[in-house]
Amino acid sequence: MPQTERNKRQAIIDHCLRMNSSGLNQGTSGNISIRHDDGLLISPTSTPYADLTPEKIAYVHMDGRVEGPIAPSSEWRFHRDVLASRDDVNAIVHAHPTYCTILAIHGREIPPIHYMVAIFGGPNIRVARYAIYGSQALSDHAVAALEDRQACLLDHHGSIAVGASIEQAFWRAEELEALARQYHGALLLGEPPLLTEQQIQDVIDKISGYGLTKTEVD
Ligand code: 13P
Repeated sequence: MPQTERNKRQAIIDHCLRMNSSGLNQGTSGNISIRHDDGLLISPTSTPYADLTPEKIAYVHMDGRVEGPIAPSSEWRFHRDVLASRDDVNAIVHAHPTYCTILAIHGREIPPIHYMVAIFGGPNIRVARYAIYGSQALSDHAVAALEDRQACLLDHHGSIAVGASIEQAFWRAEELEALARQYHGALLLGEPPLLTEQQIQDVIDKISGYGLTKTEVD
């Protein structure tokens, strides 16, 4: 296996482990993919992350053909469809983070409660409509909710964060959960005041070269 491919497979494993050790996710509820050749490398379905090896990472062609000793994540459709529809995306992190999921259960998108909402591309983070996990319908809803955005919530399910690199997608997944937690806390004091769309646009203009907001493609 070429070293670059092995590195991507190992990066999926490393970030799956980080996803759980950081408290972002639990069990095998999440899945991670990285664009590769004409398809994507993706964590296999229902496999404890501690048991993963580079060889167990699945490969899915854009036409849906699958390779690997274990079936790909049941969510391979939205990973594939987001990568197919977005040239700017090379990696995807899906998880069931507690605060993102609390908001998603209520169907509450995240409004501009904090300037960091801007790193997701606009004044809100949408909630994709509910459809059963692993379905084409869920994938269609996720692609729609991600239009012009770098993350979305999934109704009664969890979150998706995307990036030009796995580091960037993971950073966004963590920042999204922080925002969800802040919004949840702010709601405890009442309906919070919001930043304006112009204030978010000003941050988008200012922050584009900052840290992991930069495009990093390996
Ligand atoms: P997988 O174990 O198939 O990746 O599924 C977990 C999940 O999050 C379904 O939404």
